[in-house]
Amino acid sequence: MIPPMLGTTAPFKGLTVAGLFAGIGGLEYGLHAAGMNTQLLCEWWEPAQAVLQHHYPKIALHDDIQTLEKLPAADIVTAGFPCTDLSQAGRTAGIHGAASGMIKHLFELLERSSPQWVLIENVRNMLVLDRGTAMEYLISQFERLGYTWAYRLVDSRFTGVPQRRQRVILVASRSDDPCGVLFADDAGEPQEDFYRDNAFGFYWTEGNTGLGWAQDAIPTLKGGSGLGIPSAPAIWVRDAPPGRAIVTPTIEDAEALQGFPRGWTEPAQQRGRASLRWKLVGNAVTVGVSAWVGHRLTNPGTPSLDRSSPLPQAARWPTAAWGKSGERWVLDLSLWPERHPYQHLLDVVDAEAAVPLSLKASTGFYNRLMKSRLRYQEPFALALKAHIEHMARS
Ligand SMILES: C[S@@+](CC[C@H](N)C(=O)[O-])C[C@H]1O[C@@H](n2cnc3c(N)ncnc32)[C@H](O)[C@@H]1O
Repeated sequence: MIPPMLGTTAPFKGLTVAGLFAGIGGLEYGLHAAGMNTQLLCEWWEPAQAVLQHHYPKIALHDDIQTLEKLPAADIVTAGFPCTDLSQAGRTAGIHGAASGMIKHLFELLERSSPQWVLIENVRNMLVLDRGTAMEYLISQFERLGYTWAYRLVDSRFTGVPQRRQRVILVASRSDDPCGVLFADDAGEPQEDFYRDNAFGFYWTEGNTGLGWAQDAIPTLKGGSGLGIPSAPAIWVRDAPPGRAIVTPTIEDAEALQGFPRGWTEPAQQRGRASLRWKLVGNAVTVGVSAWVGHRLTNPGTPSLDRSSPLPQAARWPTAAWGKSGERWVLDLSLWPERHPYQHLLDVVDAEAAVPLSLKASTGFYNRLMKSRLRYQEPFALALKAHIEHMARS
């Protein structure tokens, strides 16, 4: 279902969407692929608005959620709210921070309307930051409003894109069972030999406390970085000659790595610097993930709830859970609900056309790595060194 059918919209299956914090429409695009229509988009950042207006010129666009007085009579309300205060790459001020705290307006709006479904997406760190305060806030809000809720951590690689990206998907409803949406599928994680060993993604902006190392994939595309700039990860192409072995994907590659058609965020350049496209793409929901949720919203399956047990009080938030009326249950499920045909990293990124990592960036990363206590593959360090020497000569 996922990447091949993108660009097409399935026949309308009757469910309508109000997309809050819409960004570049990763949630909505996937839901459209599953046969839904959007009635309203809400997004206040101009470069993101330019992308939405280009692709969805007929859909009403409201700017600031703080001035949205009511929701349209949509069946699904989506809210991939800002992760800025929740993610490791962000400020970690928490769920009441200036950016992530905007989610409270969703709950105010839900007090005055009754959609069939609410769909939230955010970063994995939300489960652990401040001992899970953010998650506790979201769940207690849904409990207060009488919703049954379920959430699950998923890895975008299950949709076939070579990007390791773990995100929490939360579905809630007053009338329906979200467990049939999120817990009906469990393909399990693949074995290591599923991945090729000819290309490895890493973050050249890191090198002190981590590498973001990923085999046959890139690490999570992000809206920011350790150096405070939105940027591309890098790729070590193991068998490429010096000068071509340490490269960065293009922004179009990044769009494809998130399941979007190449060029999706180009309209943003009318309203801001081209580099902002990295932030837009890094903020987005992988399209295949929302397409899977959309498919299950219209075709709920049978959840394997026999694998659930009560969530102990004060326990850490697990990777999957559900609850209603104050009761909370843990589920033992993998991060791979389905397993779509995998696009290997070098099938998506054309290593010959990719831009070599600059001398300054590779030297800075190499120096940080050498000073750190991080573990790395020796051939990787040698390839980096050869790359630096090559770039210095040329
Ligand atoms: C994590 S991104 C959402 C990404 C989106 N789900 C996608 O797939 O592209 C959060 C978005 O919320 C927007 N936002 C933040 N505060 C807002 C507000 N007060 N009103 C409307 N949009 C807001 C940001 O500009 C950002 O684009």
